[in-house]
Amino acid sequence: MFGRIKPLDAILATAKSKSLHRSLGPVQLVLLGVGAVIGTGIFVLTAVAAQKAGPGMMLSFVLAGFVCAVAALCYSELASMVPVAGSAYTYTYAVLGEVMAWMVGWALVLEYALGASAVAVGWSNHVVGALSDAGVHFPAVISNADALMAKVALAFGKPASPDLLNALHTGGFINLPAVFIVIAVTGLLIKGTTESATFNAVLVVVKLVALTAFIALTLPNIHTQNFHPFTPTGMGNLTGGTGVIGAAASIFFAYVGFDAVSTAAEETINPQRNVPIGLIGSLTICTIIYLLVAAGAIGTVGAQPVVSAAGAYLASGSPEMAGRCAAIVAGGAVEPLVCSKHALVHVLQTIGQPSVGWWVGMAAVIALPSVVLMMMFGQTRVFFVMARDGLLPPAFAKVHPRFKTPYVVTAVTGLFALVFAGLLPVGSLADYSNSGTLFAFAMVAISVMVLRVREPERKRSFRTPAIWLIAPLAVIGCVVLYLALDLPSKLVLFGWGGIGLVVYFLYSRSRSHVGLGHVEVHELDEDAPGLPLAPMPGADV
Ligand code: ALA
Repeated sequence: MFGRIKPLDAILATAKSKSLHRSLGPVQLVLLGVGAVIGTGIFVLTAVAAQKAGPGMMLSFVLAGFVCAVAALCYSELASMVPVAGSAYTYTYAVLGEVMAWMVGWALVLEYALGASAVAVGWSNHVVGALSDAGVHFPAVISNADALMAKVALAFGKPASPDLLNALHTGGFINLPAVFIVIAVTGLLIKGTTESATFNAVLVVVKLVALTAFIALTLPNIHTQNFHPFTPTGMGNLTGGTGVIGAAASIFFAYVGFDAVSTAAEETINPQRNVPIGLIGSLTICTIIYLLVAAGAIGTVGAQPVVSAAGAYLASGSPEMAGRCAAIVAGGAVEPLVCSKHALVHVLQTIGQPSVGWWVGMAAVIALPSVVLMMMFGQTRVFFVMARDGLLPPAFAKVHPRFKTPYVVTAVTGLFALVFAGLLPVGSLADYSNSGTLFAFAMVAISVMVLRVREPERKRSFRTPAIWLIAPLAVIGCVVLYLALDLPSKLVLFGWGGIGLVVYFLYSRSRSHVGLGHVEVHELDEDAPGLPLAPMPGADV
């Protein structure tokens, strides 16, 4: 079952033959990381984390950042050894074999495509909010799918609580702005648009200025009583959903994207020194910013979870919660932070800074599409490599004659992402995305250890420090965060993985090029779109 391994030497021969110019230094790597990481997580999911953990979400940010840091160090070793497209999928193929690689590639669909959907919904929230502040009221019926979710919940026999019925009356059926941005980004990717390093740097500055303004305006106005009770829902447990650990499992999303730095390892000057600086540097900067932003939000407007009309805990993103929030606002009270769809803008508005709030919202509107683009780019490359390996239909690997892009996989990815962006709330999408990402990260950490034992002499341009401590911590961290997700998110990985196994055994296994004995490395083909060493968007300095 684990026998089919793609020979590492064949993969490495590919990389050697197409060595990219090493041009990235530590500063560019940090910028690349920060550009890929800051997005919907901090701008929107802060509210979701607050509903799960209250002010204790500050601990959640630290916990999630730590798990990402140890996972990042493992990622880097493999990225520096196997510097070809497909990242976690390719690494696993070389080390743990085809079935595990397939499962990782399949799980990366959750990370990248659903992650793109989540960021698209975050973008939509900011556009709808900015329009509404400008007096243009986008109809609720086409700006979220809360009523649809309520209908589904009722159809599945959930009790018709007042909160659920309220969601039915006040919510919508599809998130059209989110669908729109996915279509726009898909079009750009098919045309072959990637981001220049300069453009990425400009967007990083836009995001940093917005978050710095937020911190500067909120921190001086903190009221310490807003931090009490600090952990209203407790630390949480491994059966999932709430508490500090549950919020960490959700807010993990705010750190996803740093793998862009690992992917650029081959283009880095002195990777042994600079890749860890890039990874740990960008993660540290983001963690500090996130903590300050969280402190500012909690300290100014408070972050206590809301409960149902009957006093019960409400799951963030549930139609009941949407209905409850609508009822609170309709009753004339100030909207609680946990109900806000654009948390940071909301805080600034609440503390009497609506115009700065508007600009912060605009920063999100400008910068989030590039995060959608990076995630969809990652997805198309993984699909492309899987198709080239024979595991997905050859049509997936078709390259557009004029644009030289893998247009079929890009369109498929776009279609997948837009359906979910149109129909699901941002918190659920982020959680589903996290379940796939955590699985892939754990597999990468295991692969690093296996390869250290199996091929200790192989050249590694970056070695994970204290590997026997860091890699097990990464695996444990991923497992703990996975268990702390709510039940539906955990089931998504199993359900999706189950479908994946069926596809593998019915279709892919008999067509696998490695299985058929072809070990040629397709990435060498002339028409491969920038493979194997395509610079990540934002990395082409
Ligand atoms: N970390 C990225 C975000 O928060 C995916 O949007």
